[in-house]
Order: sequence, then C-alpha cells, then structure tokens
Amino acid sequence: MKKIGLLSGQENSFPQALIDRINEKEVEGVIAEFVSIDKVIQGIPADYTVILDRISQHVPFYRTWLKQASLDGTAVINNPFWWSADDKFVNNELARRTGVKVPKTALLPSRSLPDNTSDKSFHNLVYPFDWDAIFEYIGFPAYLKPYNGGGWKNVYKIHNREEFFAQHARTGQLVMMLQEEIAYESYYRCYCIGGKYVRVMPYDPYQPENQRYLQEDNGDKSIYSTISQQVALLNQYLGYDFNAVEIAVKGGVPYVIDFWNPSPEADAHTIGAKNFEWVIETMASYLIERAEKQLPGTDNLTWGTFLQQAVHGKQTAIAPGATQVSAKKPDAPTAVSPAAAKPKTAKTTKAEKAPKEETPKKAPAKKTKKKE
Ligand SMILES: Nc1ncnc2c1ncn2[C@@H]1O[C@H](COP(=O)(O)OP(=O)(O)O)[C@@H](O)[C@H]1O
Ligand SMILES: [Mg+2]
Repeated sequence: MKKIGLLSGQENSFPQALIDRINEKEVEGVIAEFVSIDKVIQGIPADYTVILDRISQHVPFYRTWLKQASLDGTAVINNPFWWSADDKFVNNELARRTGVKVPKTALLPSRSLPDNTSDKSFHNLVYPFDWDAIFEYIGFPAYLKPYNGGGWKNVYKIHNREEFFAQHARTGQLVMMLQEEIAYESYYRCYCIGGKYVRVMPYDPYQPENQRYLQEDNGDKSIYSTISQQVALLNQYLGYDFNAVEIAVKGGVPYVIDFWNPSPEADAHTIGAKNFEWVIETMASYLIERAEKQLPGTDNLTWGTFLQQAVHGKQTAIAPGATQVSAKKPDAPTAVSPAAAKPKTAKTTKAEKAPKEETPKKAPAKKTKKKE
C-alpha cells in the first residue's frame, strides 16, 4: 500500500479535505492519512510513500525527520533540503536567471548583534555601511522586509532615508532586505503545484484577510498565460512542488514580489470556495501522481533546474550581456534498481486529469491604503 501522509499544524479545512479527496478517489493501492510519529531512530525508515509538509517551517524537529524520510525514499513535498537552504534574497537572485522580472533588492545586516556575537565578530563589515549607494540603487518609496519572512510580518513601506533608519532600528536581529516598490496596476497570487499546474488568483493585499482573494476579475486576462508560464518556470527552477507566487503587474509587465511560500495558506474561508476546490482537487491528483511514480529506495525529491545544472558545473552567474539561463522541466528521479522499483498500476480515475488554470472574471477592486 502506498501511503500519502499529511504533516500539518493548526490549520483547519485544508488537510482533512485533502485526505478525504484522495481517499474518495479510491485509487487502488493508495491511501492518505495524517502522519503519525512516535519515535525517530536512525535506521528506521518512515512508512510513507509521499508526505505533504505544511508545518516544518515552524518545527525544526519535523524538518530533520523529513530529511531522514527523504533519504529512505519518501517523496517529501516540498524538498526539505532545498527549503532549508534558500531564502527570499537568494531566490530573487535565482529568479533573475529565469528571465522573470524581480524588483531591485539589497540585503541588509541586522541592526542588533546576533546572539553570541560582539563588535569584534564584524571586522569584515565596513562601518558605516554604504547606505547611500543602496538608497540610490533601490530608490524611494521602497519596501523593507525580512529576507525569510511570511504573513506580512515586519513589512514596511518606506518613503525616505529618515524613515528607513527609524524603522530599521526597530527590526532588532532580523535580517532585512530593502526592495524597490513596484507601483502596480494589478496584483495576483498564484498557486503552483508540481511546477506545472498554476492557478492565477486576482488578489488585493490591502483588503481584510478573508476578502483578499477577489472572486472576479474584469481586467485584462491576456496577461494570465504569461503569468502562468513565469510562475511554472520559476518553481521548476527553484524546485518547489507547492508554492504561492505573488505577482505585481506594472505597465503590463509582471514582477514577482513574494515567491517563497512553500506552505501557502489554503484555508477555505480565506481563499474562497472556487480556489479551495482547485487546490484540493489539483493537490489530491498531484499527490497520487507522485505516489504512483515513487520508486522505493531511491531519491524521490524534486531538485530544481538550478541545482541540477549547478551540480554539473553549469554557469550560475549571469554573464554581462549574455542571455539568461532558461529553466527546464526537471528530469524524473532515476531509479537505482528500476526492475525492483516498478510502481503499481492504479485504477484510472479523474485524479489523473488535474484541472487547468481557470480564468476569473472581473478586475481586482481598487486598492485601499495599507495600514502600517
Ligand atoms: N516590492 C514591492 N512592491 C510593491 N508592494 C510590495 C513589495 N514588497 C511587498 N509589497 C507588499 O507587501 C505585502 C507583503 O510583502 P511580501 O513580500 O509578500 O511579504 P510576506 O512574505 O510577509 O507576505 C505584499 O503582498 C505587497 O502588497
Ligand atoms: Mg506575501
């Protein structure tokens, strides 16, 4: 029996609905259930073919257990090694290799000393830092936000250098980025599953939490296919199986603003019924697809195009004037012993046809002032 496990925290609607949807499909040899852990001992493999991880960003114990499970052949979604390695600043730099546009961004040293350091720990850092060069490059207004944050915590719109220094002084040990503002005409949040299924959702970040996902879009939907392609490309390049990408469209050009959401919100009340149905159905189908493809005793993680190219010594820097590297679909995992690892055949169900992107109908409402 191929077991699909859900590892989740406080969220309500998504995990149970997903388990139910997978099991309702009655795919032969596949079941879904919540992961259960009662001990973690080296050499004892996890009993799951696939695990969808919704919580290890908050529970380091789970993250390491997931790494162990991956080494024993579990297809962990998302790849716990990669998720531990990257951050928003690095991903911004990587996105530039795909040709997808990102706002100009600078990384800032934390205002307070990290624990267990003193002034002597920072002899490599020039004081004062070259703030003027950073301000000139980024311009104002700008966004000051953590390099590894989420949930709109510690994100500030900054209008000038005085405001910058005042706000940065309040960020303590957080490592922040200063980012060019994209003054957009429309904004989207996009689910991406398996680097191939994309749901473009018109989104107004300035509305109250449960009204941000706009149900209709009257605007120009011709941009949807460009957005979908860019979102898929970016996730293939980074190697994320499940992610949400925020896109701001300015002058008809999409810019990716926030694309490090490997455990994206998926609560029915927040995202709305249609988006919820899409994410449940598409994820259920995708997890079954991964369970059927999983080859026991081999590596079943997704490693993005960036890493695949990097381990083969391919160029990672963008050479001046050169065409940027394009992301390609990652290869399927290779079996160490293909004969011993043939997946079982499952009944053909509608699970195999994941729904395609659906185009909402009306334009996003005009944005209101953000409370800061
Ligand atoms: N460069 C930017 N240009 C315009 N708006 C931005 C920019 N960066 C952040 N924002 C706004 O701030 C919100 C929160 O920032 P985001 O990068 O998404 O952080 P978080 O991961 O905390 O959600 C975004 O949804 C967007 O409305
Ligand atoms: Mg965001």
